[in-house]
Amino acid sequence: MALITKKPKGTEDVLPRDSYRWQFLEDIFRDEARAFGYKEMRTPVFEHTNLFERGVGDTTDVVQKEMYTFITKGGDSITLRPEGTAGAARAFLEHGLHNDPLPIKAYYLTSCYRYEKPQAGRLREFHQFGMECYGTKDPAADAELITAAANIFDRLGLKNIRLEINSIGCPKCRAEYHKALTEYFGGYKDELCDDCKDRLGRNPMRLLDCKVPHDHEIAKGAPTVLDYLCDECREHFDGVKAYLDAGGVEYTVNPTIVRGLDYYTKTVFEFISGDIGAQSTICGGGRYDGLIEDLGGNAMPALGFAAGIERLLLTLDAQGIEIPAPAPCDIYIASMGDAAHKKAAQLCNALRKAGMYAEFDVVGRGLRAQMKYADKLGARFSMVLGDDELAGGIGRLKNMENGEQSDIPLDTESFTREFTAAKLDRDYKAAAGK
Ligand code: HAM
Repeated sequence: MALITKKPKGTEDVLPRDSYRWQFLEDIFRDEARAFGYKEMRTPVFEHTNLFERGVGDTTDVVQKEMYTFITKGGDSITLRPEGTAGAARAFLEHGLHNDPLPIKAYYLTSCYRYEKPQAGRLREFHQFGMECYGTKDPAADAELITAAANIFDRLGLKNIRLEINSIGCPKCRAEYHKALTEYFGGYKDELCDDCKDRLGRNPMRLLDCKVPHDHEIAKGAPTVLDYLCDECREHFDGVKAYLDAGGVEYTVNPTIVRGLDYYTKTVFEFISGDIGAQSTICGGGRYDGLIEDLGGNAMPALGFAAGIERLLLTLDAQGIEIPAPAPCDIYIASMGDAAHKKAAQLCNALRKAGMYAEFDVVGRGLRAQMKYADKLGARFSMVLGDDELAGGIGRLKNMENGEQSDIPLDTESFTREFTAAKLDRDYKAAAGK
């Protein structure tokens, strides 16, 4: 029974006292998405398994080793999404989004599931913020997408973040590159892990991101894709770099970035944090011009990225960046006696309806304990209601920061109006440093 109070390995709880940290990130994501014209898309947590086999690729680590797959009672093979791109592409096709004016810009904030060995920054349930853009081949779109990610990290105040970009070409130029890789890795065939032996004949690029240390060493000497780009892909990559330069987005070209998912074509990129250890990629993405067609649609160029929220939070902590705490309670209305208690409830609700955060006692505490609790909440104002206040129809409003007190009428309408004014005055003075 002990399992009931233990979460599964590789998962994390977000507690009420910490959720503001997530919301801070989420608000910035949503705001940046809006600024770039992206609208939210929500897709199911689970999809048909063959969507990921086809979309992500059946020679990838994600599909071969990391998926949470199960057979339903109805006999269907279902998989918890290991990433967001395939599901978004499926929804794009299913709802005929190509009929909308192009480009279609969608973002998501989702949980993802991968059966990996948990370590710092690597979880089995993790969360991504992603942006996907459909319907443009133009290198300006690649640069725009990368800029959106860069803006988000800037806005979070992150330092020591590297942007690395590469182009992995199109199926046309990749045929030559595959040949070169097969030849190179073929020379080490006996030394490769069993998975790589199998991948060699099927998809030699996957050997470049094998996590087995010896294979990783061998991969370091492999031919680089940039030497094999066709004219169209080279021109496209030059265009992306030129747009990034024009926008003042700093990057380095790293020809070893190939990404671990099969759908990429042309541009690929990663943002890497220098402060969080081995699992340092906070964001990865690229172009995937063939995916929609591979899934049964008409040809539709597309591109996107996803950033790992847990890794971003780790980076913020490692860099000592403070996340603004949520606004504290505007007012705590303490009360003695049944009638005063009911009045406190009534006034609090009037303030809540006017958009404020108000609290009164719902635990049955005595007056002293109520005031102690008000302190713990960091309430900016307090008021004590008893028989005298009710009889006179006037309460004493106390500013908890400077101790100043003032009278306030207790009829709901006047109270709400005067308290709103008192709060605005306090907020204005705090903002002006008075
Ligand atoms: P990905 O590189 O597999 O790409 O994942 C994107 C980000 O998710 C990573 O950079 C990392 O921050 C985070 N991440 C991945 N796995 C884990 C894990 N086990 N624990 C914690 N964080 C993790 C994709 O998923 C692509 N769908 C991105 C994309 C969108 N490409 C085009 N559009």
